Amino acid sequence: MTLKNLLSAHEWLIEEPALDLARQNAYETLFTIGNGYLGTRGSFEERVRGDLPGTFLAGIYDHHDSTVVDLVSCPDWLPLSVWVDGERLSVQGAMVLEHRRVLDIRQGLLYRLTRFEDRQGRRTRLETLRFASLANRHLCGLRADITRENHEAPVAVEGGIDGRRFNLDRLPAYDEGHVFDAESRFEKWAKSRHLGPVSSDGSDSAVYLELGTLDRGHHLAYASSLSGGAKTKRIDDLAVAERVKLDFEGGQRCTVDKLVSIWTSRDVEVSKLRRTCLETLAAASTRGLTAALNDHLAAFAERWRDSDVVIESDGPAQRAVRYGIYHLLIAAGDRDERVSIGANALSGERYRGHVFWDTEIYLLPFYIYTQPAAARALLAYRYHTLEGAIANARANGYQGAQYAWEAADTGHEETPTWTVDGKHRLWMGEEEFHITADVAYGILTYVRATGDLDFLAGYGLEILIQTSRFWVSRLEHDAERDRFELRRVMGPDEFHEHVDNNAFTNRMVKWHLLEAADALELCRGERRAAFDEVAARLALNASEPATWQSIAERIHIPADRETGVIEQFDGYFDLKEAPITVWDENGMPAYPEGYHHFNSADTTLVKQPDALMLLYLLPDQFDDRVKRANYDFYEARTLHKSSLSPAIHAILGIEIGDTAKAESYFLRSALVDLADNQGNTEEGIHIASAGGTWQCVVAGFGGFRVKQGRMTFRPWLPASWRWLRFRLKWRGAVLQVSIFSDHAVFRLEAEPGRSETIELFDRPRVIEAGKDVLLRFSPGS
Ligand code: BGC
Repeated sequence: MTLKNLLSAHEWLIEEPALDLARQNAYETLFTIGNGYLGTRGSFEERVRGDLPGTFLAGIYDHHDSTVVDLVSCPDWLPLSVWVDGERLSVQGAMVLEHRRVLDIRQGLLYRLTRFEDRQGRRTRLETLRFASLANRHLCGLRADITRENHEAPVAVEGGIDGRRFNLDRLPAYDEGHVFDAESRFEKWAKSRHLGPVSSDGSDSAVYLELGTLDRGHHLAYASSLSGGAKTKRIDDLAVAERVKLDFEGGQRCTVDKLVSIWTSRDVEVSKLRRTCLETLAAASTRGLTAALNDHLAAFAERWRDSDVVIESDGPAQRAVRYGIYHLLIAAGDRDERVSIGANALSGERYRGHVFWDTEIYLLPFYIYTQPAAARALLAYRYHTLEGAIANARANGYQGAQYAWEAADTGHEETPTWTVDGKHRLWMGEEEFHITADVAYGILTYVRATGDLDFLAGYGLEILIQTSRFWVSRLEHDAERDRFELRRVMGPDEFHEHVDNNAFTNRMVKWHLLEAADALELCRGERRAAFDEVAARLALNASEPATWQSIAERIHIPADRETGVIEQFDGYFDLKEAPITVWDENGMPAYPEGYHHFNSADTTLVKQPDALMLLYLLPDQFDDRVKRANYDFYEARTLHKSSLSPAIHAILGIEIGDTAKAESYFLRSALVDLADNQGNTEEGIHIASAGGTWQCVVAGFGGFRVKQGRMTFRPWLPASWRWLRFRLKWRGAVLQVSIFSDHAVFRLEAEPGRSETIELFDRPRVIEAGKDVLLRFSPGS
C-alpha cells in the first residue's frame, strides 16, 4: 500500500499541486501539524533556502536577548535527507519531475510526493507522511517511502534533531512596501537566541538532544530513531543525527520510519527528563510507527465527532470551515492549565506566541460548545497567571488585577512598545486594557454554557474580585457630573490611541462590574465554603459588590446620537471623514489615498469592529433599530485591517439583514489563510479568524445566542446552501442542530427524560432527549 492510500476523501484535503517555492513560507503555515502540546510548520524535510521551519512547544517561552518574551522556536524534529550515491536530494538541488503535498485535515497528516532527477539522470521518488500524535502528545512520526525508479545506486537516509534554531526579533527599517528576495529575506533580521546545549549523545537505538533555554531555564529533550539496520551518528552540541543505508532487498522501494519523542522540564523533573524521553521513544519503537499512527488516527476521529460542521453547498465554505476547525483542534492543549493559545497558535513566530483577547472572544466559544474541558483549561491559564496580572496593576499604580494585552507564561505585560522595524510606537500594552473585561466575559460565558459552578467558585471568583478591584481603581470619578470615566484608552480599533471614554471599554466594564457582583452572590448561595475561603483570603469587604454596582451604574457611556449610533469615544463624531472608495478583488476596502495604520487617527476610519463589537457581545442590550444604525454607520468606515474583523461583520450583517455582504464577509474570514487574503499567512495561521469563522457558522447562519440562560436561534442560510449541521455541548448534553432553508431539526443527546427549552425566532420550544424535533420557520421571520 502506498502512503497516498491512507488519505481521506478529496473534500478533506488541502493541496499544494506543484512546487511553488515563492509561496513556501505560506505553505509552511498552511501545512502546520500539531496536537496542542506542539506545532510544527510544514517545511520540507530536507530544508531549502528561504524556508522558515519551526516547532513550537506550548508554554516554552524565553526572553534572554529578545526585545520581548518569545515563544521559542524549539529544536526541529523534522530533518530527513535522502542521499543517492553521495548526492543529497533537495527540491533546489535536483530536477523536480513531480511534486505534490496534501494536508489531510480529517486525520492530521501531511503527505508529500516528490520525484527527483539528479545530475546523473537517476530518478528517485520520495513519499513522506508526518504526524504529531494526538494520542500521545509527546510523540511525532515521519515515514519515508523511497523508490529507485530507474537505478540501483546506493541510497542512505539521514534524520535527526536540529537545535540550531533562533527567533526573528527585529527588522531594519526599509521603505514601506520593500520587497525582499525570497531566499535571503530572513537573513536581514536581527535574531534572538534562546537555546543552549545541555547534553547530546547516541546509542544503537536512538540519538538524544537536550537543550536549555537561556533565560527561563526550561530543559527540552528530544530523542529520535530511524528504523533499519546499522547506523552512523553525528553528535554535536546543538544537533544530532543518524544515518542508515537502505536495503532494498532487490526491490525498488524501501521504507524508513522516524519516530521522535519530546519532553520538557515543564512536564517532568529535569532529573527524569532523559529517562522519560528515551522510554517514550523505546515504547513507540517497539510497537512501530504504524501502531502509533493508528492511535493518532483514532484520537483525531474522536476530536472531530463533536466539532465537525457540515455544510451542503457548492462553494468553498465546507472545506474552509473545516480547515479552520482543524487548526482549532491542533491548537488546544486540552488539559494543560498553564498554557493558552497565542495569536498564531503554534504555527509561527508572529506576535511571538503572545496571548490576546483573541482567546476569550474569538476562540473560546468553539471550545466551550465542542470541548468544554479545553475551554476550562484555557480559562484556568488566566487563573494561574493572576499573579502577573496583579503585578501589572501594581506597576501601573492600580489595585487588583490587570490582564496583559499580550501575555506569555507569567501574565506580565509583554506587548512590544515599537513595531519590529522600530518606526512606530505601539501603545496597546498601556492602553488596550479592555482585555481585563474580556477575560471576565470568557469566564461567565463558559460557566453559563456548562453550569460549571466549581470552576466559578474555584477559579473565577478570585479573578472576578481582583479584576473588579482593578476597574474601581482605574475608573476616574468626575465629581461635577458624578460619573465615572476611563481616559487615555485604546479600544479594539487600534487606529485611535489615547482616547477618552471608548464606548466598548466603558460598556464592557459596566457589564463586568454588574456581572461580577451577581456571580459573587451566586457563589455565596451555591458554593458557600469556597466563597468564604476566597472572601477571607482576599479580605473582601461585604460592601464591595454593592460599590461595584453603584459605580457601574454611573459609568459614562458616550452618548448615542438621535439615530442610535454609539459614539466610539469622546469626540469621534468630530473627526474628519475619509471616504472609502476603492475595494480589492475580494470586496475588501483599501486605505483612502495617503492613509495607513499610523496616520488614520484624525479620521473616522476604523481598523476593526469596536462599537459594533458591543452589539455582538451584549446582544440583549440593543434593539434592532440601534443595531442597524450602528452597523450601517461603522461598516462604511471599517477597513478590516485585522483578520478579526470580517467574522463579526458577517454575524451582524446576518442579524440585521445585510445578507449579501454577510456572505462575502464570511468567506473573507473563512478563507483568510487558504486565500492568504491578509497577505501574511506565511508568518502564522490566523487562529482568531478560525474561531470567528466557527462563530459565523453557529452564531451567524445558525443565529445562535444565549439569552436569559437559554439557547436561542434565528437561522438564515445563503441560497446556495442546502443545509447546515453543527453540534453544541450544553450543560452535559449535546444539541445537534440541522438547518434547512425553512425548517430546522433539533436533536438533544442526553439522558432519557431530560429536555431543554430553546427558542426559535423568539418562540420557546421544548426539545426532549433522544428525539428529532422538526420545527418550521419562515426565513427572516
Ligand atoms: C488586532 C487585535 C488582535 C491582534 C492579535 C491585531 O491586529 O487589532 O484585535 O488581538 O491583532 O490577533
